[in-house]
Amino acid sequence: MRQHIARVTESAPDGPFHRLRLACGHVASHARPGQFVHILPRAAGGGQDPLLRRAFSVMSVTGERALELRQQTHSPENGASFEILFRIGGRGTSALARCRAGDELDVLGPLGNGFDLRVPTQQAPLFLVGGGIGVPPLIFAAHTVSHETGTATVAPSAPSIEAFVGARTASEIVGETGLAAVAQVHLATEDGSRGQRGLVTRALEDRLVAAAQGGKRPTVCACGPWSMLRAVALLCAQFKVSCQVSLEENMPCGIGVCNGCVVPVLNAPDDYGRFQRICVQGPVLNSLIVDWGDASVHSAGPSLPATVDDSMDDPVHQGASQ
Ligand SMILES: Cc1cc2nc3c(=O)[nH]c(=O)nc-3n(C[C@H](O)[C@H](O)[C@H](O)COP(=O)(O)OP(=O)(O)OC[C@H]3O[C@@H](n4cnc5c(N)ncnc54)[C@H](O)[C@@H]3O)c2cc1C
Ligand code: FES
Repeated sequence: MRQHIARVTESAPDGPFHRLRLACGHVASHARPGQFVHILPRAAGGGQDPLLRRAFSVMSVTGERALELRQQTHSPENGASFEILFRIGGRGTSALARCRAGDELDVLGPLGNGFDLRVPTQQAPLFLVGGGIGVPPLIFAAHTVSHETGTATVAPSAPSIEAFVGARTASEIVGETGLAAVAQVHLATEDGSRGQRGLVTRALEDRLVAAAQGGKRPTVCACGPWSMLRAVALLCAQFKVSCQVSLEENMPCGIGVCNGCVVPVLNAPDDYGRFQRICVQGPVLNSLIVDWGDASVHSAGPSLPATVDDSMDDPVHQGASQ
C-alpha cells in the first residue's frame, strides 16, 4: 500500500457525474483493472474534515506512457496519471467535485485485488456487466485486455469482448463511447430511453443463451449495485459460467482494520467467520463464494469451492492483493 500526494490535472462534470484526472505515476503504472484508490476528499495537508477517505475504482491510466511503464520497470513516472469517475452524493464527493486543476489530494493506492483477466477469444469471450457508476473499472478492464491482445478496435461480427451497460435512464449511461472502441456494447435503460428497456441482466441472459448454443464459454466480470450483482451471479450459476463481482461497499479505512466493509460469504476459513473484508480480500470476489441470501445461486450452479481460499485455484481465482 502506498500513499501519494497527487495533483489534479483535470476536473470536469461528465453528464450527471464528475471526472477527475490525477497525476500519480505509481498508480498509473501499477493499477490493475478492478483495483481502487482511497482519496481524502480535502486539500492535502489541510484540516481534518471530512475525516474518512472515499474509495473509487481506477477508470483509466494515461495511454502509451503508463502502458509502457507496466511492461518495463514499474518505476514511478511524474508524467503519468489516472482517472476516476464518480456520482456526486455526500460531503466527500461534493468536495472532490469542487477540486480544480493544480489542487493536491492525498491518495492511497492502488488497493484491492482487481479482476483476474484472461485473454478472451471468440470461443471464450469476456462479458463485462456494469450498472450505473459500477462501469468505470470495466472500462479499464476492456482497454487493458484489448491492449494486451493487440486489438485496438473490435470486429463487430466476431467480438471477443462484450460490454453490457445498464442505467436508469439515457443520461446516466457511463462509458458508452470508450467501450465501443474495444467491445460490442449492449445498452439497457430502465425507462427505455436508450437500448433495451429493462434491466441489463436481460441483455446478458440473451447473450448467455446464444453463447451456450454456440458452444462458447464466456467469463463474466461485473460491477454495480448488489441487486444487479446477485442477478448476474444467479444467471452465471445457471449457465455454469465463471463470474467475478466487484463489490463497492462503504470503506471507512480501506486497509483492513475497521471491519466496516465486510460482506457475507460462504465457507470463509479465517477469524472473520462468514464475512470477508472486501478492502483487502476484494473488492473482486468469485460470485460463488458470496452469500447472496439467495440459495438458488448456489443450488443452480457449480459446486462451491471448499473454502474461500480454494477459490484462488478456481478458473476465476483472484489476483494478489497489494
Ligand atoms: C472499491 C470501490 C470502488 C468504488 N468506485 C466508485 C466509482 O468508481 N465511482 C463512484 O461514484 N463511486 C464509487 N464507489 C462508491 C464511493 O466510494 C461512494 O460513493 C463514496 O464513498 C460516497 O462518498 P460521499 O462523500 O458522496 O458520501 P458520504 O455519505 O458523505 O460518505 C460516504 C462514506 O462515509 C462512510 N460511511 C458511510 N456510511 C457508513 C457506514 N454505514 N459504515 C461505515 N462507514 C460509512 C464511508 O467511508 C463512505 O465511503 C466505490 C466504492 C468502493 C468500495
Ligand atoms: S474498510 Fe476498514 S476493514 Fe475494510
